Amino acid sequence: MPVITTIDDFKPIYRRRVPKMFYDYAESGSWTEQTFRENTSDFDKIRLRQRVAVDMEGRTTESTMIGEPVAMPVALAPVGLTGMQHADGEIKAARAAEKFGVPFTLSTMSICSIEDVATHTSKPFWFQLYVMRDEEYVAALIQRAKDAGCSAMVLTLDLQILGQRHKDLKNGLTAPPKLTPATMLDLATKWRWGMEMLQTKRRKFGNIVGHAKGVTDASSLSSWTAEQFDPQLDWAKVAKLKEQWGGKLILKGILDADDARKAAEIGADAIVVSNHGGRQLDGALSSIRVLPSIVDAVGDKVEIHLDSGIRSGQDVLKALALGAKGTYIGRAFTYGLGAMGQRGVTTALEIIHRELDTTMALCGRKDVKTLDRDVLLVPKDFE
Ligand code: FNR
Repeated sequence: MPVITTIDDFKPIYRRRVPKMFYDYAESGSWTEQTFRENTSDFDKIRLRQRVAVDMEGRTTESTMIGEPVAMPVALAPVGLTGMQHADGEIKAARAAEKFGVPFTLSTMSICSIEDVATHTSKPFWFQLYVMRDEEYVAALIQRAKDAGCSAMVLTLDLQILGQRHKDLKNGLTAPPKLTPATMLDLATKWRWGMEMLQTKRRKFGNIVGHAKGVTDASSLSSWTAEQFDPQLDWAKVAKLKEQWGGKLILKGILDADDARKAAEIGADAIVVSNHGGRQLDGALSSIRVLPSIVDAVGDKVEIHLDSGIRSGQDVLKALALGAKGTYIGRAFTYGLGAMGQRGVTTALEIIHRELDTTMALCGRKDVKTLDRDVLLVPKDFE
């Protein structure tokens, strides 16, 4: 096993271990992938100010996100099909997050169900909701999240309709994978993944199959999901869902200052500046590029989080210094999970923590909560 010192080090192992269709599902964006690429390249355009002869003893990365204490302000983002990257993937990722002291967010489109994750963890996690047309099903999902003790609902607003992802279409993405000559050839080289999958009962979308009307197996699911996302989701419905949930609410997928103002007016506890990791509107700006305008618009009204493109602790520091109170990683933990299971997620968190701590120290700062723009050199067109 090679020595893993950066998030990118996971990728070759991940690629060898996990079926191509799930690797491609994670490692792609929509359409031309311009936004997907710029999510990372825009972070690189922001430079850091080195400071010297500053006492760096007693540094801390501890903070809070929506009032919850965190070992560092980096949550695990909701990632659909996590349980296809590794058997029982959601449980493994949730346990790694819990041990590390950062929030875990369970996707509606998870393989392990809300109840499965609650049974195998001891701290409350966050539940991400996709709004479906079937109001009864949505109400039942919200109730299940409440019963499982979830401490926040992350309501995703940027996926009323799916951005076209060419690789998934070409691969014929299904969960579990449909057996075709191409998938069988691929699976023959990924036998360890297959053996682990066979040993778990959790191979279907646990929040949907058996819970949504008429969805009894994976084959009925694909047509159901395509029809189900609610194209009529609007701010009035968001306000209604807030009432229905009654707990802490995080609105995910905000890229525009006007939308950020609406979210703040509705009384969200936090917003996530996000373009869904470049998987929805290709051509949209990167999250880090729009962050300053959103902080200017609502920074004093609502807690601001950011995701899309974070691959290192330096990226986390840049987002915090530009005014985010918290960040999320999607692919960065998925690579670790696919490559090495729970240990990989822990290693991913350790890498990001070390990079955040070291960068903070070399910028002459001791506390993530006090990071500000003074540590950065930001290109003019980010303002
Ligand atoms: C996602 N994302 C996502 N978001 C969400 O609200 N519900 C979901 O089910 C999913 N599923 C999903 C699957 C995969 C494979 C990826 C990569 C992403 C988006 C995710 O929560 C987050 O916004 C991005 O992953 C952030 O970008 P990075 O960190 O992956 O660059």
